[in-house]
Amino acid sequence: MKRVADESLAPRGAINFSWAWRHMPTLTRIIEDQRPKAPLKGKKVGVCLHVTKETAVFVKGLQQLGAEVYLAGANPLSTQDDIAAYLLSEGVEVWAWRGQSTEQYKACIRNVLRAGPSLQVDDGADAHVMAHSEGYAARIEGGTEETTTGVLRLRALERQRGLAYPIIAVNNASTKFLFDNRYGTGQSTLDGILRATSLLLAGKVVVVAGYGWVGRGVAARARGLGARVVVTEVNPIRALEALLQGYEVMSMRQAAPLGDLFITCTGQINVIDEPHLLNMKDGAVLANAGHFDVEVNVGALKRMARASREVRPNVTEYELPDGRRLYLLAEGRVVNLVCAEGHPPEVMMMSFSNQLLSLLYLANEAPRLEKRLVPVPQEVDEEVARATLGAYGIALDALTEEQVKYAESWAL
Ligand code: NAI
Repeated sequence: MKRVADESLAPRGAINFSWAWRHMPTLTRIIEDQRPKAPLKGKKVGVCLHVTKETAVFVKGLQQLGAEVYLAGANPLSTQDDIAAYLLSEGVEVWAWRGQSTEQYKACIRNVLRAGPSLQVDDGADAHVMAHSEGYAARIEGGTEETTTGVLRLRALERQRGLAYPIIAVNNASTKFLFDNRYGTGQSTLDGILRATSLLLAGKVVVVAGYGWVGRGVAARARGLGARVVVTEVNPIRALEALLQGYEVMSMRQAAPLGDLFITCTGQINVIDEPHLLNMKDGAVLANAGHFDVEVNVGALKRMARASREVRPNVTEYELPDGRRLYLLAEGRVVNLVCAEGHPPEVMMMSFSNQLLSLLYLANEAPRLEKRLVPVPQEVDEEVARATLGAYGIALDALTEEQVKYAESWAL
């Protein structure tokens, strides 16, 4: 089976990899500290992640700690082909290229599972779900999950059928979701939209669907570029938070005719549906930052359109029967990974430090853990925060003895 798009891209990938390595000091320090102990020696690690330059630092780290690594992408359109070629040239077993069909995408993940990993890293839970439903779970001792949607899917699997091995919910570490989901997606989503469209955001109405960690970051960065931001929500507390943060809050039905740009950040299906599409302005742009390509009803858009064409790379124009034209970015897939390069390395160093320390924990502790979704150990979360502050050269105060006593006392 095909492995990567073009092996000759490896030298370009090596340069990109070095750039990321230089900007991920929290992660590279952990790798360097652990390297002499080779704590993953002899372990087969399956990895299903977006194949980016930041992922390459993580994967090379696993290799340097002794692991044999088997890698597939976490989305048919997100692989950076130079990075995939570079990792293949470095001895990583890679099956990933940009522009896969759904069947090819699944076959690549299946190849990783067939290699018989004892630890499995995932982003979105496709690999874990496949391991459970196609009989690859028996050899897996433990796994990790990178994103909100994956954790929700695994929680549903755990409830309905139980898990075959413990899975650490890396997404739910504070040093992951507070930074990666918010600042990482905030910046890279706007980066992707700007690279794809090259349009001005100042003065435009940007509708952000969902005010969770991703939505908060996207809304803040859109406002920072001068957009007039509207938020839609289903959760009253989050809607209220958005309102008091100074955004307009309304339903998608109300927002549909007002928006110049729509960005879905919910993890939910058909958040932008046929009735909304029917009410949008001529020229409205649609982008998705959620994990799966389900948030904009692309099927409905295709059915409604009398014509469609690619007007720029990653920008598809759909002409509706009344002549209005809507522009869908990245086929409705994660816009920050398809139209830009995903999160900046300084953000991914925290997420992947959590991943790496969680894998090291699993390598020792998996047989003693319950076969459930488990949190990242608190000490790992704190270690990642401290190491990151250290990398920035930022000192912390410590409570004095007097302050510790004060915090523990109840007397007036
Ligand atoms: P979250 O759970 O913190 O936020 C989701 C928000 O969407 C919630 O406030 C929820 O009430 C709201 N929501 C749900 N259905 C809605 C609807 N129909 N209309 C309006 N609002 C609705 O989740 P988080 O961490 O913000 O993640 C959101 C999605 O982004 C997930 O799919 C996650 O996996 C993905 N993600 C993508 C990243 C990327 O690089 N593009 C990075 C991190 C997460």
